[in-house]
Amino acid sequence: MPSTLTLETFDPLDPTRRHLALAHLAVREAAGRADHGDRFRRYSLDELRADARPARQDRSEYVTALVPDGAGGARVVGTAVHVFPLLDNRNQTFADVWVLPTHRRRGIGSALIEHLVTRTRTGGRSLITLESLRLLDRPDEASAFVARHGFRAALTDHRSDLDLPDDPAEKEPAVRTLLAPLDAEVAAADPASDHDLVTYLDEIPERWLAGRAVLEGRMSTDAPLGDLELEPEHWDGERLLESLARLRDAGRRLVETIAVQRSSGQVVGFTMLVVHPDHDGIAQQWNTLVLPEHRGRRLGMWIKAANLRALLAHHPGVRQIRTYNAEVNEPMLRVNRAMGFRAVAELTEWQRRLTPTP
Ligand SMILES: CC(C)(COP(=O)(O)OP(=O)(O)OC[C@H]1O[C@@H](n2cnc3c(N)ncnc32)[C@H](O)[C@@H]1OP(=O)(O)O)[C@@H](O)C(=O)NCCC(=O)NCCS
Repeated sequence: MPSTLTLETFDPLDPTRRHLALAHLAVREAAGRADHGDRFRRYSLDELRADARPARQDRSEYVTALVPDGAGGARVVGTAVHVFPLLDNRNQTFADVWVLPTHRRRGIGSALIEHLVTRTRTGGRSLITLESLRLLDRPDEASAFVARHGFRAALTDHRSDLDLPDDPAEKEPAVRTLLAPLDAEVAAADPASDHDLVTYLDEIPERWLAGRAVLEGRMSTDAPLGDLELEPEHWDGERLLESLARLRDAGRRLVETIAVQRSSGQVVGFTMLVVHPDHDGIAQQWNTLVLPEHRGRRLGMWIKAANLRALLAHHPGVRQIRTYNAEVNEPMLRVNRAMGFRAVAELTEWQRRLTPTP
């Protein structure tokens, strides 16, 4: 670790540490703008505070890397988030690291990684997972860095974006054109003969909560994991409500569509889109899943097309939607390509197994 570098942990919920919370966001923003240009999406103070609030399912630690600013003070030049899952995957931690573009290749990222490794060990855990995101037309900075620190690539996801016209008058016709082929495919498979769609905003109606929670758990087992070591997650209604409360605290807005089998009343598929007022019209696709025994009826296309329409009806300012899919998840990629999504970035998940300290 460079001799002038210090690391300082902070709690984003502590008002006396507000300057560090703001510096943390500023480093993330500077790194994001440098690496992703106009495809950068802001992460807001509301989101940081909501994500930092301890919950039943996880708790997070935050650390900043500081160097002397030349005027007797210190400047934050790097930062990391370190998540400790509490309900499942208690053998591991998840982390993100950012260093200001002006201060790279000086050992700051390495000092942060060493801190994360130590904290993982002292927390009694033996595996760390990191993510890196690279636009397809930009150089890859993270791979050499994480490989140097003993991480191996465990899963690669594509990020695909769907750009919509800015002009509200053009949006509706553009979406109608985009969705016409999907509508035709869905009509031919006729899932509406034995399923209903339900769309809701921000909160999951009580009636669907338990069934919807089962599907959330299935995300951890049914989506392709590649070589990622991850435990199955158990979700119940209470856990789902807690994660939706965090979503709301963060200022995020949810648009969700589920498919319900008419004969049994069972929730058999769901898809979620999330927007935030500080995200400059960029919406994010979160989880989508159709239970295996209900696949092949174009339920996935049906719920995604309906949810996109609902998103634009309730949040007409949305101008771009982003989605992440494992590169091996051909069925999901096919639906997304059919909707007009185009691959723009690659997200790699890296893991390092820690040997016990001698
Ligand atoms: C990845 C990142 C955190 C590295 O931070 P950093 O402070 O520059 O890293 P270090 O100076 O500690 O680099 C340690 C070693 O990693 C390797 N490395 C780091 N960046 C590299 C690059 N751009 N190209 C090739 N090797 C690189 C080198 O071996 C380097 O040692 P060296 O400089 O003596 O050759 C930084 O580039 C960053 O913030 N990127 C954007 C956010 C991100 O991708 N975070 C996720 C990381 S998984």
